[in-house]
Order: sequence, then structure tokens, then C-alpha cells
Amino acid sequence: MIEQGDLKKAEKPDNRVIDRDEKSQTKRKNEVSLRPQTLNAYIGQSEIKKNLKIAIEASKKRKESMDHILVHGPAGLGKTTLAHIIANEMNVNIKITSGPTLEKQGDLASLLTNLQEHDILFIDEIHRLKPAVEEILYTAMEDFGIDIIIGQGPSARSVRLSVPPFTLIGATTKISLLSSPLRDRFGNVFRLNFYSDDDIKKIVKRTAEILNYKIDEDASDRIAKSARQTPRIANRLLRRIRDFAEVKGQKQITSAIANEGLASLGIDHLGLDQADRDILELIIGKFNGGPVGLSAIAAATSEEQNTLEDVYEPYLIKTGLLERTHRGRTATQAAYTHLGHDILNKK
Ligand SMILES: Nc1ncnc2c1ncn2[C@@H]1O[C@H](COP(=O)(O)OP(=O)(O)OP(=O)(O)O)[C@@H](O)[C@H]1O
Ligand SMILES: [Mg+2]
Repeated sequence: MIEQGDLKKAEKPDNRVIDRDEKSQTKRKNEVSLRPQTLNAYIGQSEIKKNLKIAIEASKKRKESMDHILVHGPAGLGKTTLAHIIANEMNVNIKITSGPTLEKQGDLASLLTNLQEHDILFIDEIHRLKPAVEEILYTAMEDFGIDIIIGQGPSARSVRLSVPPFTLIGATTKISLLSSPLRDRFGNVFRLNFYSDDDIKKIVKRTAEILNYKIDEDASDRIAKSARQTPRIANRLLRRIRDFAEVKGQKQITSAIANEGLASLGIDHLGLDQADRDILELIIGKFNGGPVGLSAIAAATSEEQNTLEDVYEPYLIKTGLLERTHRGRTATQAAYTHLGHDILNKK
């Protein structure tokens, strides 16, 4: 049911190994096999796991469904994975849908009324629900009932249908776009954070084991540091580097292979790819380090402003290579150093 193909493709650059998103069906299948199934196998996010363990145990003891859960955070950090784990740990079914898929009130109503007691309904991209559809959720979440209008004109009447007690898990990368009545109806709100290099390293090792490859300490270190603190990117890099090992007929990923693989993917030790570096080079070379407006960068790179803002900038800012000021974007001293420019040459 969940289909994200209708996401505006134009907003995302394709074929970036370090793209946080994962849209195509084959890639999605690859992901499913790597997903941890239990909270214990879910690496990092210890605070969230601790709270979830308590909530899961308590509702199991009470034989009740869990409070509704909202999971938010950047793409590829494990929101969908967490929803599946909760269903697994609770021993209940999970029905999966997404905000843009639910076009009409009836779409959601039929999903809700077909749930079994304690089931989980997972709504991905919940910030993209249509207001009319979202309204149905309010009473469903609060009173386990939905009001449906039957008929038209003067003979129209409202009928209340009951919904079995269920747990809604909503996931979003953009919590600011969620309406407050909806947000307020979640008993648990979890924010996923970027992973430490150590945790990403554990994920790299775990994935290598699942893929049946041995991996050196140094190699997992190197891959982890290039993964932008994001499990999805770590797994994707590892799969690409495994291809290099495969071609060489090796069952072991050494640091030499990791380095060679990353270099040929154009990914440097900070996890930047060519597109990231081009943006910095542009600001330094053409705009004397900035400040330069987003529209000027967009025009010079032929990227859309949205893409620059949502896809490229967050990581450049996070790594301290770019600064966003009210006068525009500025390349930092660290950016000059990283690209091998002499900051003293700044005119
Ligand atoms: N804590 C974790 N431990 C181990 N692997 C993880 C963890 N979190 C995520 N992963 C891996 O990263 C991949 C991406 O995770 P997932 O699809 O859950 O991200 P997401 O937050 O739902 O992304 P999106 O916002 O694009 O939907 C999964 O296939 C899983 O293998
Ligand atoms: Mg997801």
C-alpha cells in the first residue's frame, strides 16, 4: 500500500549514494532484509529504546494497546524500522500506509474499521495527510470511533462506526508541518537523533555480517565516518564497497578496498560527495567565500533552492563547512581547509 513514488522526484537529485532517501522498490527490498527485528538489535537511540521498553512492557501487562506514538527525524535514521520493531515486540499486526496515499476519508475509514484489536496502524509521512482525512483520525485516536456522513443533501446523516483499540504510529521528517491538534493526540513523541560514529560503526559491522562479509576495524571505521551519521547511508556505502570486494574476489573488506571504493564513489573522509564539494567550491571560487544568496547558488548550480536547502545544506552546516546568515551563505575556514584552499587568498 505504501508507495512513495508520488513524491516530487524533481526535488531530489537522483543517484546520490549518500542520498538519505530510498525510493525504488529494489532498494527498498534490500533495506527490509537489513532491518533489525527487535529493540535489542536496534543500535543506538538508547533513550528512546529505554522508554519504549517500559511502554511496551506496561501495555503488555495491562493487555492494552500502546499509546499512540509519533516518531520524527531526518530520513534514513530508522523510523520505519522502529515501527516494525514495536509491532514485533508487541506481537501484533502492523498495517502500513502513508499520508499522500490516503486521498479520501473513506480510505482511512476502511483501514481503521478493518483493524484488529491492538493492531498498529503505521502512517508514514503523516504530515502529508489531507485535512479532511486527518479529521477522521482525531476521534479514532481519542475515542476509537469515526463519524461518517451517509447520503447527501437533506437525507444525509452522521453514523458513528467503532474502531477497535489500536495504536497509531506516525512518522515524519517534518514535524513542523504537523498540525497541533494531531500532534497533541500522540502520547509518546520520539525524536530520532543522528547516530554517533561508534553506533554507525556497529551498524556497518552488523550489516557486513548479514551480507556474509568479513570487515576490518579500519574499514568499518572509514565507512562509518563517511556515512553522515545515518544508518541508511552506512548500509548503502557498505553494499557498494562490497561490490568492489566481490570484483576482486575477496570475502574480506579491508581498509584498502574501503578507501578505493569510497574514492571511486567520490566520497571524502567527511562524507561529502562531489556535489557537496562543488557547492563549496562555487561559493569560494565564484563568490569569494560569500555571503551569497541561495538564489544565486541555485542559479549557478542548476539545483532547485529547495534541494539545496533540504538535501545539501543541512550536512554542510552540520559539519561546520557552511554558515547560514541573514545576508546569505558563507564558506567557513574549515571549508577552505577541507578543499585545500588558502583562506588568506580570500579577497
Ligand atoms: N538503529 C538501527 N540499527 C540498525 N540498523 C538501522 C537502525 N536504524 C536504521 N537502520 C537501517 O537503516 C535503514 C533505513 O531505516 P528506515 O527505513 O527505518 O529509516 P526511516 O527513518 O524510516 O527513513 P525515511 O524517513 O526515508 O522513511 C534500515 O533498512 C535499517 O536497516
Ligand atoms: Mg521510513
